Amino acid sequence: MIIVTGASRGIGNYLFRYYRENQTDSQVYGTCHSAMAEDPNISQINIENSEQVDEWSKSLLLNKPSELTLINCAGVNNNAMAHKAAVEDWQSVINVNLLGTYNVIRSFLPYMREVGHGRIVNFSSVVAEKGVPGTSAYAASKSGMWGLSRAIAAENGAKNININSINLGYSDIGMGIDEINEDLKQIITKNIPARRFCQPEEILDTVEFLRKVAYINGTSISLSGGLV
Ligand SMILES: NC(=O)c1ccc[n+]([C@@H]2O[C@H](COP(=O)([O-])OP(=O)(O)OC[C@H]3O[C@@H](n4cnc5c(N)ncnc54)[C@H](OP(=O)(O)O)[C@@H]3O)[C@@H](O)[C@H]2O)c1
Repeated sequence: MIIVTGASRGIGNYLFRYYRENQTDSQVYGTCHSAMAEDPNISQINIENSEQVDEWSKSLLLNKPSELTLINCAGVNNNAMAHKAAVEDWQSVINVNLLGTYNVIRSFLPYMREVGHGRIVNFSSVVAEKGVPGTSAYAASKSGMWGLSRAIAAENGAKNININSINLGYSDIGMGIDEINEDLKQIITKNIPARRFCQPEEILDTVEFLRKVAYINGTSISLSGGLV
């Protein structure tokens, strides 16, 4: 079984659609939040709500999959300088990106441990490494994922479960890409050693790599075209 959170838009939608179309022998499920579900296998879930997440995961696990991949794409951003940010906005980024991701992982982990198989891929960001003005909440939530992954890897490595993060740079799909005008895109591109944004296929290849190589555990991969 493959589960993709944030399947209504951007990267999650791309990965969900890819697996739905190409994984004939595997069940593929996803989540949306504010958007309407575009596929019968997508459920409307607020990952901040652990009870809702648990109920949803229980219903999927009735299918008794022998293998389980969880791809955590659901996330939000809220740009504000730290000295001006509203506490509620700051908190809500942490609640979705960090606590929400934990809620989802937590709800599938006992089953993964039981069947002795689990692949967990989280989406972090180069923003967490780089220090970008206006991103204190987002960066905190994304660097929090590294510690979360390391601890969960240490707890579950012996059960054939791996958990890693992709530290993504600028991608051609998803978060805010439609709001970046051509001029700004060119300025950003000049600062990326690869001189281009990440392509969806490169994200998919990285996810597949982490799914295949169980021995990679508790770490993160920079997918940033050399941007640090
Ligand atoms: N795109 C990039 O360049 C980039 C770069 C670095 C890191 N990332 C990370 O990669 C991941 C995917 O990014 P993206 O660009 O594809 O994002 P996106 O296009 O903004 O999509 C975000 C997804 O998260 C869902 N979501 C938001 N709040 C939620 C909640 N409370 N409960 C459940 N789902 C919720 C949204 O659902 P609805 O639409 O239904 O509300 C949507 O499906 C994110 O974690 C992001 O931080 C992206």
